[in-house]
Amino acid sequence: MRGFPQVYRSIFAQPILLILLFSGQLVAAEKEDIIAIETKIADLISRMTVAEKIGQMTQVNGAEGSIPKRLNEAVKVGRIGSVLNEVHIETVNELQRIAVEESRLGIPLLIGRDVIHGFKTVLPIPLGQAASFDPELVRRGARMAAQEAASAGINWAFAPMIDVTRDPRWGRIAESLGEDSYLTGVLGAAMVEGFQGDDLALPGAIASCPKHFAGYGASESGRDYNTTNIPENELRNVYLPPFKAAIDAGAQTLMASFSDLNGVPATGNRFLMKQVLRDEWQFDGFVVSDWASIEQLSIHGFTANDRESAFAAFTAGVNMEMATSTYANHLPGFLEAGRVNVEQLDALVADILRVKIRLGLFENPYTDPGQFPPIANPGHLEIARQAALESIVLLENRNRVLPLNIKSIKSLAVIGPMADDPYEQLGTWIFDGDISLSQTPLQAMREFVGDQAEISHVRVMAHTRTRSREGFAEAVKAAGAADAVVMFLGEESILSGEAHSRADISLPGNQAELVNAMHETGKPVIVVIQAGRPLTLQNILDKVDAVLFAWHPGTMGGPAINDILFGVESPSGKLPATFPRMVGQVPIYYAHKKTGKPPTPETYVHIDDIPIRQKQLSSGFVSHHLDAGFTPQYAFGYGLSYTEFSYSDIGVSDNEIPMGESVTVSARVSNTGMVEADEVVQLYVRDLVGNVTRPVRELKGFERVRLKPGESRRISFVLGPEDLAFFGQEMKLITEPGEFHVWIGGSSEAVLRSQFTLINPEAQNKEI
Ligand code: NOJ
Repeated sequence: MRGFPQVYRSIFAQPILLILLFSGQLVAAEKEDIIAIETKIADLISRMTVAEKIGQMTQVNGAEGSIPKRLNEAVKVGRIGSVLNEVHIETVNELQRIAVEESRLGIPLLIGRDVIHGFKTVLPIPLGQAASFDPELVRRGARMAAQEAASAGINWAFAPMIDVTRDPRWGRIAESLGEDSYLTGVLGAAMVEGFQGDDLALPGAIASCPKHFAGYGASESGRDYNTTNIPENELRNVYLPPFKAAIDAGAQTLMASFSDLNGVPATGNRFLMKQVLRDEWQFDGFVVSDWASIEQLSIHGFTANDRESAFAAFTAGVNMEMATSTYANHLPGFLEAGRVNVEQLDALVADILRVKIRLGLFENPYTDPGQFPPIANPGHLEIARQAALESIVLLENRNRVLPLNIKSIKSLAVIGPMADDPYEQLGTWIFDGDISLSQTPLQAMREFVGDQAEISHVRVMAHTRTRSREGFAEAVKAAGAADAVVMFLGEESILSGEAHSRADISLPGNQAELVNAMHETGKPVIVVIQAGRPLTLQNILDKVDAVLFAWHPGTMGGPAINDILFGVESPSGKLPATFPRMVGQVPIYYAHKKTGKPPTPETYVHIDDIPIRQKQLSSGFVSHHLDAGFTPQYAFGYGLSYTEFSYSDIGVSDNEIPMGESVTVSARVSNTGMVEADEVVQLYVRDLVGNVTRPVRELKGFERVRLKPGESRRISFVLGPEDLAFFGQEMKLITEPGEFHVWIGGSSEAVLRSQFTLINPEAQNKEI
């Protein structure tokens, strides 16, 4: 392509742009936009030195409110393209001023930050938000977070985290959207839209960065940064679709994972970065490494030294290096030695400039906080409250102990370390979260109850890991004097998140003993758990009357929990991840394969029922654990309500569907209980026979509906060809003729089933 003017080189380097320009998909103005952007990129690149180009590929950590001389100099000479972790608005504006006014080419900086679940106003942890099954609310939450972050000069959020994970031991499950590929894709796309707004160039729109590409959620044994081994078929069917969905929603950047994927660390993985991301998906944004993940290629044992790490990441297509300087140190040498050429360098730089131009940074590099809605304004707090409300899952409610009746309860004992802890309710990744904004459950309950009932609060344990029994006696006394006990238990924020994996995922410290002590008082015991992951609860379940799982619910967790406790609202959250009975069952997830020996309740044999010295056989057995069975404690999609919903009258638009056409599946959902409430109606599909075996069920649609007592509604889902497709043995997306089962209900254990057959005798394994 030498000899072509720069602008054409830039366009030709991006097949997606070519396709768009020559397809009928774009109107003239959009084509003009593309040409204008590519012309600007080409112009800049034609004037950049090699050092300036590498500068654009370099991201450094900020100095938290100051600009050390080295940083000032580096920005001035164009050796830096992005700064992370700088949120002081004066400093950010000054950095932009140096970049725009003092550097030779005036290229503005990307200012990146981990805006994971809110900024100053903290939303529930992403896993909690996923429990809402409410994409619109999730989108509004990300929009709110983007506005607050943008008011501090941030123009790039390292979110959403869309690593599918089936391991609650992994600390980063808190940051994830759970175990399901479809749910993660829908909610991840909603977050991308929320961060980026309708127009990237408008104030308050910030670039999103879906992460970690790819497979990080499969870290062996849930230990962070651990190896992942994911067969390509599983990768394509489960782990990659959320990234595709995020890119289709307009995501501008991706972050490469720390992890080793099938022997090739993601940061140097050409299959991921080139074949999948660029060739198959035609991604035209850019990829940033994770923190020092280029340097770590040699620690993995994938490269011999930093120089070769830089080469591996560069040739795999990682555009920007976070925190370390292997690119700055070694790329010039590669160019001089002819190991890489300038076209390769230009293509990687062009991707970064494209995002900066789309963000409108060249026109508006500075931030005026006054042009944004105030931080934590009532609208923001309302979004945080609604997100917390919809995230809370009612796991148990024996004898309808909940909701508490304010008219009949005259005294409550509020017990435990999480009742009044403004910090711990916020969860992991709250770099900027404002603790002073937190409204705790105890505060909210006191305000709600006023003088209608007495509340005695005993914290008992300093934190969730406390092992002493000091304080138990006082708690027992308070419980003895109360009509009911509400316990606030869980995990502190620091027990989940990056590098905070656990092998034992039960309630830490002396919390189970505390539950026991409360149980022995004979009073109704309601447990509210705030945690960053699914927990094993077997050691407390038979001692409590109700369990509310509130995740780490964020700034407005208190009022949301209070509203549910007192029945102002009915709980409506549904589990985005399976809760195991015992940690030894992990991985346990709903979309598993059937196996050749599927278990049933009839064939299950408990360890205690096996006769001593029973003769060992090798037939007639099924797949289960002798001591844990084969079912989870709580299934994906599960969550109780204060009302009852019944499902009936499932139907499909046709029993035989020609391949390539859509089928509509519908069922009637009725509120047969006593209170108005939301229900998350879920659609599951099973493709009975596949050229690679298909999961026993896969979520393919969901809708949150609100029904009054006695009200019923028919809910319909349209399944298009892409919903029925999967990657087969040839790693192509195919649909196959054959029978499909469909279920509609309130969890992945829904029983109301219908079926249809996909027909096309001529076209086996048709590629779509
Ligand atoms: C490492 C984490 O893995 C990543 O998710 C985060 O965005 C970066 N550090 C920057 O803080």
